[in-house]
Amino acid sequence: MTNAPVNSGLFTPFRLGPLHLPNRLVMAPLTRNRAGADGVPEPIMATHYAQRASAGLIIAEGTTPNAVGQTYANIPAIHRPEHVTGWRRVTDAVGAAGGRMFLQLQHGGRVGHPDNSGLVPVAPSPVALPETIRTPAGRRPSVVPREMTADDIRSTVADFAQAARNAVAAGFAGVEVHAANGMLLHQFMAQNTNHRTDAYGGPVGNRVRFAAEVTRAVADAIGPERVGLRISPANTVNGIDEGDTHRIYPALLAAVGDLGLAYLHVLFADPDQPLYRRIRDDWSGVLMANPDLRRSPALPADGGRSAGERLLDSGAGLISLGRAFIANPDLVERLRAGAPLNEVREQYWMYVGGETGYNDYPVLGAAEDRGRVLAVTGGRSGA
Ligand SMILES: Cc1cc2nc3c(=O)[nH]c(=O)nc-3n(C[C@H](O)[C@H](O)[C@H](O)COP(=O)(O)O)c2cc1C
Repeated sequence: MTNAPVNSGLFTPFRLGPLHLPNRLVMAPLTRNRAGADGVPEPIMATHYAQRASAGLIIAEGTTPNAVGQTYANIPAIHRPEHVTGWRRVTDAVGAAGGRMFLQLQHGGRVGHPDNSGLVPVAPSPVALPETIRTPAGRRPSVVPREMTADDIRSTVADFAQAARNAVAAGFAGVEVHAANGMLLHQFMAQNTNHRTDAYGGPVGNRVRFAAEVTRAVADAIGPERVGLRISPANTVNGIDEGDTHRIYPALLAAVGDLGLAYLHVLFADPDQPLYRRIRDDWSGVLMANPDLRRSPALPADGGRSAGERLLDSGAGLISLGRAFIANPDLVERLRAGAPLNEVREQYWMYVGGETGYNDYPVLGAAEDRGRVLAVTGGRSGA
């Protein structure tokens, strides 16, 4: 469970639109349910992200652009002035610690519940999530979402654009549009969740229309160089069955390819996989790859470093990691030093609770780590 010290492309600087990133390691968006019941970020979130400010870029967790888009309890939001004020405390703390942040804009669509948002969820079609959903009172059966009208579609696009403006007002360098993991934009793209017969359903060109309109509106609102787009081709999480994966993503990229976005963020990226290679070849902008680490049951001992290096070698510009950043506030320093990584603690603590399992992971240089690092690196790490 030790890592050798490395000289890796991961630690070279990178120019992302107007931003100078000191390294290629990105903290992936990670929902942790630590906001207040009203969606206002809590001070412990400022501590959490500031602890991780050495990441080349932090993408803050999925954040709700309008009230009905809320997925679970204690998810942060960005549609009211108090949300902007709360996030400003976070971005100030990260900025003071030398970091840079994007905010992920996440509308859950059918991944929501009246017990969480106070509203019946909306979705492309009235197709319920085929699983129970977490609420403050425990797991509850999902409800059938209301089919979005043409007006709902227009207002939701506008809400994303306004949320992006709010994010910039809150001090974020940009936003990431969440079109992955079975959330609303993905629900429009997938066959099993989109049964519409209007211009947003049916042929693949119609099913990618909503995601493309949201992305374009957000880019128009704050400038394309401040906007990333996240996709998870073939991911079945949240009951998604895309049907024609191999047509969806080329169509989506064709629809947003001319916008000049900051990056395209691909989940479960694998350089041996033909669809990933096709996406990489079709995308002329910056590719951010979140390595596919699912072959190992637990997080690999190097947290995804070697998988990330393979992706850099095969053309990605930036590498995002999720769980390794949960457990290692100083992930960049640890990987650079070849130091052992903290292990992610119980699943339970990933999603629920206050400081425990959130802000209490030790950094390198804590007494118990120093001895271990010097042992593995022969004293060269300077930890
Ligand atoms: C606790 C937890 C919360 C997550 N929350 C989000 C989220 O808000 N938005 C998102 O796009 N992905 C989310 N993900 C997915 C991660 O961003 C990442 O893609 C995933 O963990 C795989 O990367 P890893 O193998 O490095 O952990 C979450 C994952 C975990 C474990």
